[in-house]
Amino acid sequence: MDFLTWGRSPWGEWILTHISWDLFWASLFAGVMFFVAHASYMVLSAHRKRSAHETDALEARLTSLPERVPRHSFMARMFHWVMAASMFVLLFTAFLPIAGIRFPWVQWHWIAGLVLTASILYHIIHATFWLDFWSIWVGPKDIPEFKAEMMREFGHDVPGPKPGKYPLGNRLYHTAIVLAGIAVTATGLFMMKRVATPLFVRDPYMFSDSTWGVTYVLHGTAGVALVGLVIAHVYFAVRPEKWWITKSMIFGWITRRQYLEHHEPSRWAVRGSTTPKVSKTH
Ligand code: HEM
Repeated sequence: MDFLTWGRSPWGEWILTHISWDLFWASLFAGVMFFVAHASYMVLSAHRKRSAHETDALEARLTSLPERVPRHSFMARMFHWVMAASMFVLLFTAFLPIAGIRFPWVQWHWIAGLVLTASILYHIIHATFWLDFWSIWVGPKDIPEFKAEMMREFGHDVPGPKPGKYPLGNRLYHTAIVLAGIAVTATGLFMMKRVATPLFVRDPYMFSDSTWGVTYVLHGTAGVALVGLVIAHVYFAVRPEKWWITKSMIFGWITRRQYLEHHEPSRWAVRGSTTPKVSKTH
């Protein structure tokens, strides 16, 4: 399978033009295989949440925890759904024509691209100044937790705390989506100079042919990666044992019981979790 598509410049040189669209089918296939493999594995796996008797004990101790624990503020939820809508428009407008369904897609694509870019900018500002910025990132400090998680996946009873607001898997996923998101929006904004838009004068000569080639390849690679990443995300959102998290992205809160079953109160401090530092709960 070729990963790249090449063309000839007017001067007869070979230049990069796109990624090979076989990669789109490969990413779609990988996304579908991932959920088949994961779903089969989940049939065998013990779902790991705090035992009922441990949760009862915590609940009896933390009496001032509210019945509903806020998880996502209204603005955080708005961001999520605007971003999700623009992402779907981008994926369908980009890949339906490649799958053979032809329609004038470019205009819808870049409009959704601008919505996605604006929503990402909003999210960066919101997360930097209003949310607990570091709660979503991964780093070397997470290696012991990663090892413990892996051991538990393989059926070993390894002691260790429950996650803070975001489990390790969610934080790794966020890192992947950040990298793909930055690459696709940065390149997409430049690519708008190649197509006719009412926003500015078209200038396909802004970059050399080879720089455009690299830009299109980066855009296509990130776009194709997003196919697999979005499939995995939607798959987890619709799995019944994750509905409590999905519901919190609609209504904004989880129950006290869910908070205690799945989180470590000292690592995600909310009102009533009786830790000295009370962080923001968006
Ligand atoms: C989920 C995110 C995105 C995906 C999956 C995606 C995918 C794609 C794909 C597969 C192409 C065809 C590229 C080629 O022919 O080599 C394309 C073209 C294009 N994309 Fe995106 N894209 C995304 C985000 C964006 C964003 C955020 C923008 C702008 C801000 C954007 C602007 C463009 C433009 C202007 C083109 C047309 C280029 C042309 O026809 O010459 N895209 N996109």
